[in-house]
Amino acid sequence: MEMEKCAFPEAIRVVAEKCGIAIPQPKERSPEERRENQQRTILVEIHREAQTFFVKQLEGTLEGKAARAYLEDRGLDRDTMTRFGIGYAPSGGDLLLRHLRGKHPEKTLVESGLVSRDQSGRHFDRFRRRITFPIANESAKIVAFGARALGDDQPKYLNSPETPIYSKSNVLYHLDRAKDALRRADFAVLVEGYMDAIAVARAGISNVVASCGTALAEPQIKLLGRFTKRVIVNYDPDTAGQAATERSLTALLEQDFEVRVLALPPIGDKKADPDLYIRERGADAYLKQVKEAPPYVDYLITRARQMDLTSGEGKLRAVNFLLPYVQKIPNRILRSEWATRIAQQLHLDEPVVRAALSKAASERRSEVRLQPELVRHSAKPAERRLIRMLAEAEGFRRELAQHLQASQLHLGLETEKIFAALIGASISGEPFHASEVGAKMDDRERRLFFEILFEEAQEPAWEEAQSCLDTLARKQIERELTDVQRGIEANPTGPAMRELLTRKQELMRRLAASG
Ligand code: UTP
Ligand code: MN
Repeated sequence: MEMEKCAFPEAIRVVAEKCGIAIPQPKERSPEERRENQQRTILVEIHREAQTFFVKQLEGTLEGKAARAYLEDRGLDRDTMTRFGIGYAPSGGDLLLRHLRGKHPEKTLVESGLVSRDQSGRHFDRFRRRITFPIANESAKIVAFGARALGDDQPKYLNSPETPIYSKSNVLYHLDRAKDALRRADFAVLVEGYMDAIAVARAGISNVVASCGTALAEPQIKLLGRFTKRVIVNYDPDTAGQAATERSLTALLEQDFEVRVLALPPIGDKKADPDLYIRERGADAYLKQVKEAPPYVDYLITRARQMDLTSGEGKLRAVNFLLPYVQKIPNRILRSEWATRIAQQLHLDEPVVRAALSKAASERRSEVRLQPELVRHSAKPAERRLIRMLAEAEGFRRELAQHLQASQLHLGLETEKIFAALIGASISGEPFHASEVGAKMDDRERRLFFEILFEEAQEPAWEEAQSCLDTLARKQIERELTDVQRGIEANPTGPAMRELLTRKQELMRRLAASG
């Protein structure tokens, strides 16, 4: 905007043109899309109304009072209930339905998931006699509820079904409130349940999100990854929690997250989820645990040590449990350290562990996909300058291109194809469009090309072009000299020897002459 002294949309157009990126036209929405949008808006509105209803129930009714007592007994004060929007779905069976019926058609209420329909076609509230936890999407709109039974009713938690505004695998509980803290702290604490997330947030870690019962789904991980790539997994230490930990762990590692695992120590003989731990031991003790949470491999070794290691088979099972994780460690030195650790901790023969590990590592290598960003070109400054001048030096672009065409100085460079495209375009004498020329290149080259166009640079000058050409010429001589030298060393008594030596002399002379 400042360079071109233009408005934002215009600046976008200029940059897009430079980069060869097409700006999508604002799409005409089809009537169907518009209808779906409208429906989503209405479903969100219904959830907002339901939320108000549930909160009122908790605050103002006799039943609600019992629910409040239950929550207070679990250590939640009024402020917390308000802060997290906790409410109560009464036992009547159709109170919410009756509350909403006048405003929305029953069909829409069923679509919202808040109202169900039995076989006889009768409608009734999905949530009855339950504490409600509003579940918001990323933009803090309530799109679903989780609802806990008051007593031992089953299931303990009942959640909203999948609806046009809610998909379980796309939403993380508490993310809407965690965003800023996630970016600031640059890590997330990942817990299983609503009560855990609330307890952890109250303990001062607002960068907490809950997966709500199951292991993380890929869309949830991608969502989280937009805020931080570091996670401390703090699931329940029961069997289900351990299984979910290990599944989430794998999924997180696959998305290149840095993962720590916090397995809270039991309290007495009770296994502690974050909620219980914080209630019993206090926020500070929990914060300390979080701070000391070990990298995931430590957690896994501890788990492996709990397996039966008395037999050979048992040991094999333990190593096989560990290997898939260890092979995901990107760093070789770290992997090697882990081999030693594993051998020591499981009382195994170190060479055996190493052999298994390097096998796993070689399998890993075959899995690694080469990302184009990783295989960056490393164009030298002279190449970069010449490319820039071929694109921008109105005064001498053509002359420069003809010179390169004749001398073929660009051959053998990594940027050869970029040069070829630019030389072609410059010699043609047609008006120059970076995006058109870029379109003739591979992705990798095009990226480098545009990178060069955006570099800080001075006005193009013919003297500078000349000096860059000299550099390229020298580089070319050096390259050929290396080849010749290699030929000489490869076969010192061969028949081509005399010729090679002559060539070498000649090249040396030219190199010296080129300064
Ligand atoms: P937990 O059984 O650990 O519940 O399930 P909790 O969070 O500790 O709850 P309290 O402390 O007993 O009230 C963890 C999470 O798994 C999901 C819920 O999201 C719950 O918070 N879950 C659990 C269900 O969806 N349905 C269930 O029946 C149980
Ligand atoms: Mn729990």
